[in-house]
Amino acid sequence: MGTDILCLRLGATHVVAVSSPEIAREFLRKKDAMFTGRPATLASNLFSYGYKCASLAIQEHKWQKMKRIVAAEILSLALDRRLHVQRQQEADHLIRYVYAEINAGHGGSINLRHVTQHFCANMIRRLVLGKRHFSESPGTMMAGHHEVEHVQALFTLVEYMYGFCLSDYFPALVGFDLDGHEKVAKRVISVLERLHDPIIQERMLEWSNYRRKGCSKRDAADFLDVLISLEDADGQQLLSPEEIKAQEMLFAAIDNPSNAVQWALAEMMNRPRIMQKAVDELDQVVGKERLVQESDICKLNYLKSCIREAFRLHPYHAFTVPRVAIQDTVIAGYTIPKGTHVLLSRIGLGRNAKAWNEPLQFQPERHLTDGDVDLTETDLRFISFSAGRRGCPAASLGTSITMMLFARLLQGFTWAKLPRVDRINLQEARNSLVLAEPLVLLAKPRLGEHLYEVN
Ligand code: HEM
Repeated sequence: MGTDILCLRLGATHVVAVSSPEIAREFLRKKDAMFTGRPATLASNLFSYGYKCASLAIQEHKWQKMKRIVAAEILSLALDRRLHVQRQQEADHLIRYVYAEINAGHGGSINLRHVTQHFCANMIRRLVLGKRHFSESPGTMMAGHHEVEHVQALFTLVEYMYGFCLSDYFPALVGFDLDGHEKVAKRVISVLERLHDPIIQERMLEWSNYRRKGCSKRDAADFLDVLISLEDADGQQLLSPEEIKAQEMLFAAIDNPSNAVQWALAEMMNRPRIMQKAVDELDQVVGKERLVQESDICKLNYLKSCIREAFRLHPYHAFTVPRVAIQDTVIAGYTIPKGTHVLLSRIGLGRNAKAWNEPLQFQPERHLTDGDVDLTETDLRFISFSAGRRGCPAASLGTSITMMLFARLLQGFTWAKLPRVDRINLQEARNSLVLAEPLVLLAKPRLGEHLYEVN
């Protein structure tokens, strides 16, 4: 509606949308302490077994408890180092998979929606559950039936989590499920429980045996181990089974990285100069004798600018995860009553003509500075990891996942359009901001054969 800040009244709730970076900073930086709540919604309640994970928690004490665990235990430096091998194996698996697809006899065409989404899902399953596939079967290099089902369920989850649901604003309608949200959310939960629960239960049994027998425990090998191994003062499991099941790590890094890499590649296919600059940077920083590694990311400033530009121009979600005002306060001269839902508009910020020159053009150069380029954007001129107390605690891991996906695809392969395609169609889908059609390109290996045979 071309306004910096907008307030709608939905039922008894004020919903405020913000598209000005200055006002966004007033909300999430200057007065962040007033906006540490999250809304209670039907879907977020179901997905978090009663608001039991950090990102969806609505009660202050639960949020603080779970956020401390995510920040200090899950994202600890020690675990980050221990899981480096797993992350590297997934990055190796990515290029081995694309290479195998090229040689599989369908003319080298690669569906990048499939590749990027399944890379993120494989990565996150490895880090959280310790396994890439639910059932290892030879021949399913990237995704079998269960993995496809898992990815579909996770994407549905992120769409419905704070998607508009009538009964969230008109509680008298709870139970009627007029828009079908409850049915979809319950279906998602049943798929996730079928796939996750056996792994979680087996692992809980393993750790309870350690405790019972007083055996020395092994180091946590993945995020699930960390959650189960935490103990209270009496040496008992700290988290309840529901708190363990409710974790957001499984869905936190699936939508944004895969979407940003698809859009960046799509834009770059229509702008060969940008593509060439990115490939030149990789050749200069890494060369062609070895594969790009996480330790190279700090030097890949042009590639990071491309991803920043994708986050700015093509966010996956139209709005950030909502915040709720925990007290009456005043922002930009407007009274914001306690209980107001605050949504930062990702498009309103990222495509704001007052903040960006030629906002609809994909121009990575706008992010280049004299220093290192960072995917975080604490000035909130667009949203990547957001800011403030409820900002994302995993910017470093999120950056590694996104950049390894992007850099490996660019370093490992030369990409071309399909025959008879002049330009990549950059149209957005009708009901969301993703590419209307999956990005399908032709890939050709650009490194020595031995580099694709990594294990
Ligand atoms: C590229 C990847 C990622 C992006 C772009 C991203 C982005 C975000 C954003 C925009 C928020 C909302 C912040 C707000 O309300 O202001 C958020 C919250 C959160 N993210 Fe991430 N995230 C990523 C990966 C991850 C990963 C891998 C994890 C966990 C291991 C994670 C854990 C969380 C948690 C726990 C919160 C909730 C924080 C709170 O409510 O206090 N994120 N993330």
